[in-house]
Amino acid sequence: MDNIDLAHNVLKHNGLKQTAFSSEIIPDNSLIDSHGRIIDYLRLSVTERCNLRCSYCMPEEGIRLKPRSEILTWEEIARVVGIFTDLGISRLRITGGEPFIRKGLPRFLESISGNPKLKGIFVTTNGTELPKSINGLQRMNIAGINLSIDSVSPDLYRRIAGKNKLDSALNAFQFILDSGIRLKTNTVLNKFLNESEIIKIAELARTNPVDVRFIEEMPFGGNSNSFKPKLSADDVINLFDRHYNITPVSRKDNSTAALYKVDGFAGRIGVIAGYSRTFCSGCNRIRITADGQLKNCLYGGRVLDIRNLLRGGHDDCEIQNSIIEAVSGKLEDGFAASRQIKSHPSESMSLIGG
Ligand code: 5AD
Ligand code: SF4
Repeated sequence: MDNIDLAHNVLKHNGLKQTAFSSEIIPDNSLIDSHGRIIDYLRLSVTERCNLRCSYCMPEEGIRLKPRSEILTWEEIARVVGIFTDLGISRLRITGGEPFIRKGLPRFLESISGNPKLKGIFVTTNGTELPKSINGLQRMNIAGINLSIDSVSPDLYRRIAGKNKLDSALNAFQFILDSGIRLKTNTVLNKFLNESEIIKIAELARTNPVDVRFIEEMPFGGNSNSFKPKLSADDVINLFDRHYNITPVSRKDNSTAALYKVDGFAGRIGVIAGYSRTFCSGCNRIRITADGQLKNCLYGGRVLDIRNLLRGGHDDCEIQNSIIEAVSGKLEDGFAASRQIKSHPSESMSLIGG
């Protein structure tokens, strides 16, 4: 038997299929959208709450938090993780709000860390509450942490984040590095606030093995309908180019970041064109909000009320069928998704899940 026949037999045996769109072989009940993209990455928000008030995230008038009864319990979230890993989700990102301010996160992480279908658990955090939990994290199989750092000057950090917490965030930076967990930083670009800090922040990658990423501001902070960021990913690449000798790192299919090596740097620097949305064609991700709503795109609407299904007595199989159908309708890109919900998106990222 040659290799092709052998592969074919193995496939038949395991109930696998080859899609019309892709040469990749995927299990029968995998999530695949009508554009042939295999969805294997779930971003799961565990709380809407946050201890910071980043100007690009929280509208001045504040956000209306849902009553606790509408937020998924840890037990429900654990069930959701099982349902999705059975559908081929292999990478999970825990987001918020600020995930570490929800009591019970370390225990929850520990409870899912043994799931053999999860190749990686990641966390996005502002880090200010993290050092308390980091020892636990080392035991929990965390594959990577994204840390928000919008400034390295205490005053400016306070102006952007609303709290004087730069020291705690930098502490977290060091704790994560020391623990050996893969670290990436996020800086949301703002022409009037941190443009002058971009190179200072990029310098974090000089001696540290970290990916320092600058993100185009997106319209999720209660900004107006005509929102357009005043500082783009391209502006930042030009700035890098003027300061450093940079070499682009070849981009993985579904990566949102364009990364660069810099001569003499231990880490890398890069940009995420969150507003320009130049990476949607390789999108492999979906989201669940803290109140259990499935979103196919950051820019799109809620496509399935998973909380309702969980609480309505449906079994996992029924819920999986609804998820497969909802995900198949994932639109081509973030522009199509935002057109579909008509009004320009302005919901806070802490409600959607950062
Ligand atoms: N634009 C871009 N990124 C945002 N984030 C939150 N709000 C926005 C926004 N309006 C990202 C930041 C933060 C993470 C939690 O979500 O990167 O680090
Ligand atoms: Fe909190 Fe993140 Fe929003 Fe900042 S961006 S207020 S850290 S949820």
